[in-house]
Amino acid sequence: MRKIGVLTSGGDAPGMNAAVRAVVRCGIARGMEVYGIHRGYEGLIEGAIKEMDMSSVGDILHRGGTILRTARSERFRTEEGQKHAINVLSAFGIEGIVVIGGDGSMRGGLELSQRGITIMGLPGTIDNDLGYTDYTIGFDTAVNTVLSAVTNIRDTSSSHERATIVEVMGRHCGDIALYAGLTGGADNILVPEMPFDINQVCKKIIQGKNRGKLHDIIMKAEGVEIDVQELAQLIEDKTGKETRVVILAYLQRGGSPTARDRMLASQMAKKAVELLYNDEESKAIGICGGEITAYDLETALTIKRPFNTDLYELADVLSR
Ligand code: F6P
Repeated sequence: MRKIGVLTSGGDAPGMNAAVRAVVRCGIARGMEVYGIHRGYEGLIEGAIKEMDMSSVGDILHRGGTILRTARSERFRTEEGQKHAINVLSAFGIEGIVVIGGDGSMRGGLELSQRGITIMGLPGTIDNDLGYTDYTIGFDTAVNTVLSAVTNIRDTSSSHERATIVEVMGRHCGDIALYAGLTGGADNILVPEMPFDINQVCKKIIQGKNRGKLHDIIMKAEGVEIDVQELAQLIEDKTGKETRVVILAYLQRGGSPTARDRMLASQMAKKAVELLYNDEESKAIGICGGEITAYDLETALTIKRPFNTDLYELADVLSR
């Protein structure tokens, strides 16, 4: 394969730029032409495609967001949109694409792959919600961003002897809450994968208060189905402890990627380009036990993500 494309799609994630840079530079190193597809599948349908060179990805390694821009395309969900995308690709002579994004973006890639385009999927999402890989690009940065916020929140929470609920992203996957909760010393971690019992949460807060604990951090993933303000009111009513709410929202999606995310992005992109160069079939690139992996794309998307109950229990033990 000599002409390949690269696009970013869905919610942006720190490290996407590092991945784009590595796709372009590894592709050029192999003598390939690399095309940047702007605004994800939406831009693909519109033909927003430009050839990239070494310098078009200069000075982006450390930047959050994505220079290719991103979108969630409704048009691409239709058969007409997908057929249009295929016509655009054939006009450019592009035979393979590196798709950087989350579950929805990979599924979009699968549609293209079933229409004859080779897709290499790179897991780019802060959510860490793809079952076939231990880590996604952007997750580590998001966890560190939350951690730094929690460090600040603890100071004021202690001074005022308050409880603070920190709501983090994760619609279906509680990994950001789990990792940032454990490493940030949260007293309670609420995730969509585990049942949530308000009495248990309050019991822990009261026990902490009785042993002289000044602050309480409750780390809540957005996917836990209780309104965060309602939860704060319930905690105040049941524990008598003043409770504040911090919703970190999009703050978690930006920022300079950590070394770990840059490394992951670079290694995964290298693998994707290598597979395209060797005319392999569509794959989802991941990391398992420290090794870069490549699963059949369709199979990868059927793998369910197991929740790490060991970490969840450890966080509980450490915060009693
Ligand atoms: O990137 C994933 C994610 O951050 C989710 O955790 C969140 O619910 C969602 O994206 C929101 O993104 P948007 O508002 O851009 O659709």
